[in-house]
Amino acid sequence: MRKRIIAGNWKMNETIDESVALASAIKSSLFEIDDPEVVLCPPFTSIARVGEIIYGTAIELGAQNMYWEQSGAYTGEISPPMLKALGCRYVILGHSERRGLFGETDAVVNRKIKACLENGLSPIVCVGETLEKREAGVTREIVSKQFTRSLAGISGEDIKRCVIAYEPIWAIGTGRTATPVQAQEVHAFIRSLIAESFGREAADEVRIQYGGSVNPDNAGGILSQPDIDGALVGGASLKAESFCRIVLS
Ligand code: PGA
Repeated sequence: MRKRIIAGNWKMNETIDESVALASAIKSSLFEIDDPEVVLCPPFTSIARVGEIIYGTAIELGAQNMYWEQSGAYTGEISPPMLKALGCRYVILGHSERRGLFGETDAVVNRKIKACLENGLSPIVCVGETLEKREAGVTREIVSKQFTRSLAGISGEDIKRCVIAYEPIWAIGTGRTATPVQAQEVHAFIRSLIAESFGREAADEVRIQYGGSVNPDNAGGILSQPDIDGALVGGASLKAESFCRIVLS
């Protein structure tokens, strides 16, 4: 059985004080919850403080990005050991905002995923199509290409430590969610890709999250689908009440 995983992607929101308030409110509702797994991904500047707040609970810490080198002359970048030292367990990689706004290619995402795994961190690997591609009927081609290229060279053991997030770009921050049926269809397809590349056992174990305008009202329907193992939540993770309602739905 795959344990559900609900992650809050705070994106470039929340100062330290705001992060402390948000994490504290989430903790007060969820400190006893260990199923589903809950992950908070604050901006880099707040990771340390949020880590202190959730310390001793089952709530896990994640980052939203990372560079693949261990250290060195890479101005502005953050390395895997730095995130490990803060207590991070997860790193969101290949988010469509990183791909679209910051030019991250599948090859870049692949290097980051490898570095993440080599350093004992688990990547949350994002894939998803634009509205144009969905309307052109090529969702599967796009998702398959991103999946294959981003995860090239990953071993059958390491894939089990990855979480895949299916995030249709047209549903991110738009209030327009994929229907449970639309999302399930792509999730089942992604699971078939895992089976093809890494075997059935891996396909049964890897968790696949849905992301894109998930809120307390639509979470139940989405999470009831057989191949949807959790959610990557953006906007609705910035309010403790809505995030906790998603976790508990
Ligand atoms: P959203 O973002 O929930 O605000 O649509 C999801 C994401 O980008 O991870």
